[in-house]
Amino acid sequence: MALSEQMARKLNDQVTAEFYSAYYYLGMAVAFNAMGLKVFSERFFEQYDEEIAHGMKLLRYLLDHKAPAELQEIRRPPQDWQSAEQIIQAAREHETYVTGLINALVAQAEQDRDDETHSFLQWYVDEQVEEEESMEELLDLVKSAGPAGLAAAEQQLAAMMSKDE
Ligand code: FEO
Repeated sequence: MALSEQMARKLNDQVTAEFYSAYYYLGMAVAFNAMGLKVFSERFFEQYDEEIAHGMKLLRYLLDHKAPAELQEIRRPPQDWQSAEQIIQAAREHETYVTGLINALVAQAEQDRDDETHSFLQWYVDEQVEEEESMEELLDLVKSAGPAGLAAAEQQLAAMMSKDE
């Protein structure tokens, strides 16, 4: 089934949102690196890769459906982060925001009675549950460590990351 004009536009916007998410997390990876928190930095480099994959999957879906694909501008991400906790809190809030964007796409698919796109989007719905949980876990980690306990938090995070591999 051909995508509706609104759906094609919203999917294009979501490609941009995912690439912006990648860039947003890349800025955080760089900030963690500057703070000397190498493991947190690595975790956010990995998040960058994940967001690129999210954007590419959407872009390919558009192309597979012969829908117009237009690459949009990606704005500059914030780079004046003050603390690890501030970064993770912002990342946590960002994932809630992205979940809202995905839910709006699902609502559009329902409105269009577009079952194929609806089922394609289910992957993103499930992914957002994981993304929110994962950022919540990181937030708990930095909050319980406090600014003085970040070296220990890095060790814990390294263990968590190797378990996920
Ligand atoms: Fe692509 Fe982190 O959501």
